[in-house]
Formats: sequence, C-alpha cells, structure tokens
Amino acid sequence: MRKPVMAGNWKMNCDNEEAKELADGVTAHAGQVEGALVILCPPATALTTVQSSIANSAIKLGGQNMFWEEDGAFTGELSAKMLLSCGCEYVIIGHSERRGRFGTMDEADADDLAAVFGDTDATVNRKIKSALAAGLKPIACCGELLAERQAGRTDEVVEAQVRAMFDGVSASDAEKMIVAYEPVWAIGTGEVCDADEADRVCGMIRATVADVYSQDLADGMQVLYGGSVKPDNVDGLMAKPDIDGGLVGGASLKADSFAALIESAAQSAQ
Ligand code: 13P
Repeated sequence: MRKPVMAGNWKMNCDNEEAKELADGVTAHAGQVEGALVILCPPATALTTVQSSIANSAIKLGGQNMFWEEDGAFTGELSAKMLLSCGCEYVIIGHSERRGRFGTMDEADADDLAAVFGDTDATVNRKIKSALAAGLKPIACCGELLAERQAGRTDEVVEAQVRAMFDGVSASDAEKMIVAYEPVWAIGTGEVCDADEADRVCGMIRATVADVYSQDLADGMQVLYGGSVKPDNVDGLMAKPDIDGGLVGGASLKADSFAALIESAAQSAQ
C-alpha cells in the first residue's frame, strides 16, 4: 500500500514573513495528518523559517532544486548538504520550469520563457544521484510539452525522461524516490489533465520503472500528478489507482486550499 503524498511547490513565492504565515496555517490545518505524507517546498530563502513552523508536526521539508557538486565556486547554487542542513528530507529535481527545452532563450517562444534554467535529462540524472548520495530523497519530475502531446509523442517523451532519471541509480536508491508526472501544458494554466489520462501516463511511468528495476519496486513507488491540481478536481485524481498524490503549485499557496488537498489525499488512503 503506497502512502498518498501532497507536496506543495511554492515556486518563487513568499518572503520570510509570508512563508511563516503560510507554513503556520498549513501546520494548524494539517500538521498532525497521518494518512498522507505532506511536503512543503518553499523557496530556499524560507527553508529555515518553514522548518521552524513545521518542527513539531508530521510535515516534511523539501528544496525546489539543487546542484550536484558538494561545494565550490558555483555562484547562486545550493548543494544537497546545504538543503539537508536546513532540515530538508526531499528535493524537487527536473521541474519543467527548470528544464531547458530550447538552445537559447531566443528560441523559446513567449509561452515557454520559463524554460531557461538549462536542466537536461543528463543534469537531472546527475542531480538525482548527488541528492541520493547525500541522503536527500528526490521528487523527480517529467512531463511533455503541449506540442509533444499534440504530435502524439507523450509516452515516448515521458518514458525517455523516466529512463534517463534512473540511469545508473541502484534499486536501493530508486526506492527512496518519488516521481511526479507534470504535463507542461497543465501547469499554472487551470487546465488539469483528464484524470483517466493522467492515471494512464502515471501507469506507464510505473511500467517503465518495473522494466528498469522490478514490479515490486514499481508497485512501491509513489507517482504524483502535477498541473492545476485544485480542491475541486483533487478527489477525481486521488481516486485513480496509479496516482498517489499531487505536486501542487498555485493551490499550495493558500493554507485552506492546500489543507483541502491534504484531506483528500488522506481520505483516499482509507
Ligand atoms: P500548478 O498547480 O500551479 O499548476 O503548478 C503545478 C506545478 O508545477 C507543481 O510543481
């Protein structure tokens, strides 16, 4: 039985004051929920603030990105060790907003300007291995662009991303990972992926993990859906057999809406 997960990716939102208010609010609503694993991923500047808020709760802390080196001359970057020292247990890796799907910013069209941070399948894999080596659990993201879906390439694109994520990762490390399927066209658009289709792709991801490792390992892996998850669509998603939870942007920025998502996840386990 896989424990449902509700992870809030706050992205580049919340200064320390706002972060404290939001984390306090989530903790008050859902700090003692046992039926779901709740993870907050605030911006790096708010990690220690949020850690203080959730310290006496069951809520876990995650980073939003990391670099694979341990330390050194890498201006602006954060290592796994640094995230651990702020209290993180998890780290989001390979979010579509960090994957560079374009050679240069000029090649990106206006809608895709967020894709300028340069992560590739290879750097995502390297970050995953570095996180695991340091003792952080990656929440590894995959998902197709709208043009890829329209061209009927969803499965091919997602399967290739998933295989690349796990390249050179041992089974005992892979067991610690969470995978998040986030169709890029559904992120921040209000256009949620149809629950049956999201479930189908999450099932395909699980089958790929089974092919790389074993059915047992795949059966134990939490696979999340992300992209416009909201209180009014979460129950339909959580009811699906291959969707084990959500990776949530917008709706994680309000304590009451995120609490509703956590409640739905916890209920789905019963
Ligand atoms: P939204 O929930 O705002 O669509 O964002 C999803 C996401 O990217 C979570 O990582």
